Amino acid sequence: MVAKAQNYIIDDYNDDEHWRDVQRQVGIIGNSEKVRELLEIIEQVAPTDISVLISGESGTGKELVAKAVHMRSRRRDEPLITVNCAAIPEGILESELFGHEKGSFTGAAGQRKGYFELANKGSIFLDEIGELPLSIQVKLLRVLEEREFMRVGGTSLQAVDVRFIAATNRDLEEEVKKENFRQDLYYRLNAVHIHVPALRERREDIVELAQKFAADFSRANLIEFKGFSERAFFLLQDYSWPGNIRELRNLVEKMIVLEKGNFIDETVLQKYIKPSDEFDKKLPMRLEKPKDELEREFLLRVLLEIKSEISQLRELMLAIAPKRYSLGEWRDELPNEYAADGAWSESDRSPESVSDMEKEMIRATLKKTGGNKRKTAKILGLSERTLYRKINKYGLRDHEE
Ligand SMILES: Nc1ncnc2c1ncn2[C@@H]1O[C@H](COP(=O)(O)OP(=O)(O)OP(=O)(O)O)[C@@H](O)[C@H]1O
Ligand SMILES: [Mg+2]
Repeated sequence: MVAKAQNYIIDDYNDDEHWRDVQRQVGIIGNSEKVRELLEIIEQVAPTDISVLISGESGTGKELVAKAVHMRSRRRDEPLITVNCAAIPEGILESELFGHEKGSFTGAAGQRKGYFELANKGSIFLDEIGELPLSIQVKLLRVLEEREFMRVGGTSLQAVDVRFIAATNRDLEEEVKKENFRQDLYYRLNAVHIHVPALRERREDIVELAQKFAADFSRANLIEFKGFSERAFFLLQDYSWPGNIRELRNLVEKMIVLEKGNFIDETVLQKYIKPSDEFDKKLPMRLEKPKDELEREFLLRVLLEIKSEISQLRELMLAIAPKRYSLGEWRDELPNEYAADGAWSESDRSPESVSDMEKEMIRATLKKTGGNKRKTAKILGLSERTLYRKINKYGLRDHEE
């Protein structure tokens, strides 16, 4: 009996060791049941050639999961080619994916290999697959079904041995209903579906993630970081994380830089996370409370939501035209001492050109949405593809989002 119990302990220990090794290899941090389930499904499907569709909100780690599937497969020593379907201009998407023959269109000086050829024997990761135009979807279906494709301007079929991994933060089933996405392609891609849960659904992972990001970042930048207080951890766990793990990583890095590695307690953290944001609208209300208390709580939630939206709008307006409406317009009419040197410096000036304003607007909106490009595009009334183009054009990098 005793021996048996000991065996169990040893088995559990080995099991945990195994998963820790996998986690170390693929870089997926977290101790929650949800992360364990994620790792288990990755381990199950990775060794097969089955197509995998990964869904989840922005910043949850879809790309990390895609890499993990490749790394834990027998194709790990072959290439993993990542294609961001939203970022490539529609006009060149087909030739980027399938390659082209010399002279097949103006500017096609030589023959060029497409992503599928480059991914041969390895895996292709089609990120933001929901953004793929219908004309390309039909061509992709053919590769999935026949494992062959034709270069743009080509006359012969090319065979390809590739494992498909796709990701989306859209509800593809919904897109199928709206006829934006082909149903047959959806079924083919969705042979296995891996859903990556939002960070607010696995709050147990927040402390470990924050500590890991802090340790990695301070080591890489030679900053001596003094650590977080317990209350700071509580606050981090309370926050709703609309930008998920990317937002947490960016916040930790920003705080370490701006606080110069000093201890981060509740007061410091509150400078970076606004109290209204901490209020998690998605948390269920506790129903055992008396009715009038529930009503009060409900009203409070609605008010906080409105307050947070108004403050977001105000910040956005200020980001677009910081000083113009408060000082600039009337600058010439100001008494001399206000208009003198120093009172109106170059850096105070609002953005001069339309593109400066556009850049500021995109930067501010990305910040508000925690780097969520889909939400940002929606708020700004742009297509995701246009947003990507503008992010590239203005050099807005990931860590600034
Ligand atoms: N479980 C995790 N452990 C450690 N780091 C993680 C984890 N999940 C995500 N990250 C990190 O968070 C950041 C965002 O992850 P990733 O790019 O994979 O998200 P995504 O779901 O593809 O987002 P998007 O939809 O915006 O493309 C990356 O820096 C990634 O390394
Ligand atoms: Mg991604």
